[in-house]
Amino acid sequence: MTKSSMAMAEDHAQRLLLAPNFQPDIDLLIREGIAAFGVKGSGKSNLVALLIEQLARFFLPMVIFDTEGEDTSLVDFLPHGVLATAGHMPSGRDILEHGLQVVVDLKSFDCEDSAAIAMTNLVWGLIHFAEKQDPADRIPCIVHLDEAAFWLPQRAAEYLCKSNRDTLLDAFAILASRGRKYGLVPFLYTQQISQVHKSAIRQSGILILMRQMFDTDLKRYAEYFPLDADRKEQIRAFPVGKAVIILPDGTCPLVQFNERATVHTSHTPKAMRAVARFASADFTYTLPSEPEPASNMIFLAKQGEKLERVQQEQLTSSLISDVLTCIEKRCAKNEPPTVRDLTRFLKKLTSGQIKSAVTDLLNAGLLDEHKSAHGVRYTLAEQGEALG
Ligand SMILES: Nc1ncnc2c1ncn2[C@@H]1O[C@H](COP(=O)(O)OP(=O)(O)O)[C@@H](O)[C@H]1O
Ligand SMILES: [Mg+2]
Repeated sequence: MTKSSMAMAEDHAQRLLLAPNFQPDIDLLIREGIAAFGVKGSGKSNLVALLIEQLARFFLPMVIFDTEGEDTSLVDFLPHGVLATAGHMPSGRDILEHGLQVVVDLKSFDCEDSAAIAMTNLVWGLIHFAEKQDPADRIPCIVHLDEAAFWLPQRAAEYLCKSNRDTLLDAFAILASRGRKYGLVPFLYTQQISQVHKSAIRQSGILILMRQMFDTDLKRYAEYFPLDADRKEQIRAFPVGKAVIILPDGTCPLVQFNERATVHTSHTPKAMRAVARFASADFTYTLPSEPEPASNMIFLAKQGEKLERVQQEQLTSSLISDVLTCIEKRCAKNEPPTVRDLTRFLKKLTSGQIKSAVTDLLNAGLLDEHKSAHGVRYTLAEQGEALG
């Protein structure tokens, strides 16, 4: 693989110190945008943090959509670091005017749909404000999205309703096209290249290809640079932090990324923790007589509340009869309706509609009602399988 001039910026002051042989000009990255791929453990999150640390040397405004809660330790490190959570989000204007470096804790939202809506609003907020700014006042801003395939999936996703998925995809596609002219640049990081929506990565000028295992993903890699059988094996065996970089000048240096300076909060507990915690503890435990399958339950009223916030407009279509038709069809084929069947429909409903759907389902004998001190809870009749 060739040594590239784009890989090592001529002007030392402009260099981002990412690897011994990869110290590109910060303005190259801002111009081109980045998409990085690699299986779990290939070193993506380290790369995200490393890039953020390096970009922060230039006081660049940033948004870091933090899916796993692993970037919160960056807030103290960033000169203008701010931790944003559900209900406490800065506006696009604030970010660009005050040079904020915002870590958005996506886990603080009560569901993926609300997180997706907040992300969409923030991205649009940036675009709208930058659009109105005098070109002379514009400052670049990077929007980092780790686990991009989760938020911008190639196919429909269970956890995001279609309209929220579509609007988020649109927001990122427009950020990458129109936003780019205003200095707004997405940096995307994800595991499987084959699972992230193509429209999201089409605009990225710099690709970072880390370890990959599956042929479908290696095939996608092969669209960007020549991959013979030996190279495929090499990529399958890449150690953590190793990558091929595809640069706009067509060169593709092989690099080993530096380690991030800030602490990495690993979420995978190590086995020795169990020894330390339990080995010397007294062991007395009695099984409860009637275990409560709490994790299987959802409180429909609560879900209704959540949906009301997500769902801005009333749906006029006869979803309740859709639910019943779906259940009837299932029963006709002698397959009992699944929890997923019901929640798929329930997700689209407002709380008022859920209440009347539940009444219909109770009347049809398809749901059982359980009253307790904590409220009302519903399970599918007969199977005893809970909605959730
Ligand atoms: N360039 C690197 N040099 C040394 N260690 C690294 C490097 N990149 C990642 N690591 C370590 O390897 C582990 C997995 O890296 P991580 O970035 O979390 O991978 P991913 O996000 O792809 O799952 C972490 O413990 C991290 O500290
Ligand atoms: Mg990661």
